[in-house]
Amino acid sequence: MEPVEDFKIFDGFCCGDEDLNDFIHNDAARYADDLLAITYSFRLKQDELISDPVAFTSILNDAIRHFNKSQRRKLFANGKRSYEQYPAVKIGRFGVDSRYKNLKIGKSFLNALKDFFVTRNRTGCRFITVDAYREISGFYEKSDFSFLLPSEVEKDERTVSMYLDLKRIVLQRQAAFQA
Ligand SMILES: CC(C)(COP(=O)(O)OP(=O)(O)OC[C@H]1O[C@@H](n2cnc3c(N)ncnc32)[C@H](O)[C@@H]1OP(=O)(O)O)[C@@H](O)C(=O)NCCC(=O)NCCS
Repeated sequence: MEPVEDFKIFDGFCCGDEDLNDFIHNDAARYADDLLAITYSFRLKQDELISDPVAFTSILNDAIRHFNKSQRRKLFANGKRSYEQYPAVKIGRFGVDSRYKNLKIGKSFLNALKDFFVTRNRTGCRFITVDAYREISGFYEKSDFSFLLPSEVEKDERTVSMYLDLKRIVLQRQAAFQA
């Protein structure tokens, strides 16, 4: 997983979604220039060989402005405490090349992203958020994302708001080392 400098590496990329293909081919470089989102490529490595990108994600800063009482109780030791907002990073775009689907590339990429934000992030960042295509939400659930809002709030939307708690990843790792 590395930040993209030359977007030509995506010339042969196709994830099967028109909007996402259009973004990576025509808009992602401008988003980077304007400091609106940073795009990362995901490539496969075998011995000294590195593949063309098999997936990409564009990420940007975000904040979660509201958790309900029950979410707060689960997330924070002192569930009564409420902050104005909670720092997060948002997955703005995410796509796996159609030739590599169902090979756990998407899951591995999300794992690399989680790893990045619990080990190398330089500012506070507690959550990863995503406005997931409704039909893809199961993919994110399998990577430990939860729904942020009650389903009726977004029932007419194409996307659903989801989040992942990075503290959970940190605690899982600590437990693994103590075992
Ligand atoms: C959705 C997408 C990212 C999944 O990537 P992938 O590499 O094919 O998925 P993986 O092989 O890593 O799948 C991981 C798990 O999620 C499940 N999964 C994959 N696609 C899914 C979907 N559309 N709905 C529900 N579950 C899904 C897999 O069955 C697998 O489950 P398992 O761990 O129990 O075996 C990819 O299909 C894609 O790029 N789609 C087009 C673009 C898109 O929709 N992007 C998302 C924008 S929000």
